[in-house]
Amino acid sequence: MRKLLISTVIAATAATGAVAQAPSDVAKARRAFYTLVGYEMATLGGMAQGKIDYDAETASQSAKDILTLTGYHTADLYVPGTSNEDLPGETRAKAAIWSDMAGVQEKGMAFYQAVVELNDVAGTGLDALRPAVGKLGGTCKACHDDYRAADF
Ligand code: HEC
Repeated sequence: MRKLLISTVIAATAATGAVAQAPSDVAKARRAFYTLVGYEMATLGGMAQGKIDYDAETASQSAKDILTLTGYHTADLYVPGTSNEDLPGETRAKAAIWSDMAGVQEKGMAFYQAVVELNDVAGTGLDALRPAVGKLGGTCKACHDDYRAADF
């Protein structure tokens, strides 16, 4: 949790702009990061919904991969000047992210907490996996509702 807090705090103060990446590349990397999160979540969601047979090892691995992704220094992905107003057609990240970093941080913490809880139970059976995946999915949606545009 502390790591996530620190990286989000840095994101909030990154306006001084120490990152030399082109804005388009930042947006591309951000989307790639969330693509990976979504990729693992698709496996877990498929099992929770009965579209994929439950497998303890696969579920554990996917949960662990998402946990690993939460260790990523996401401040690098939230560089100012990379919202959908700055880069129309390239990103769905709303400008609200940069005006409400505390809110993003709150959503990020709920997400992280749900990932930790999921990791505790992912390998223990479908009955435990289902609600944990549901809870995690709710934290994805909560952030997307406020900070991700529906369209490009
Ligand atoms: C703290 C906020 C936050 C949380 C939590 C979050 N996301 Fe996102 N997600 C975003 C933002 C912002 C974008 C838009 C990125 C862009 O377009 O630059 C995004 C984009 C995506 C994308 C689209 C990537 C693309 O190709 O453009 C997927 C898939 C995704 N998220 C899945 C998830 C899943 C699954 C979870 C939960 C397990 C999750 N996200 C949790 C903020 C969040």
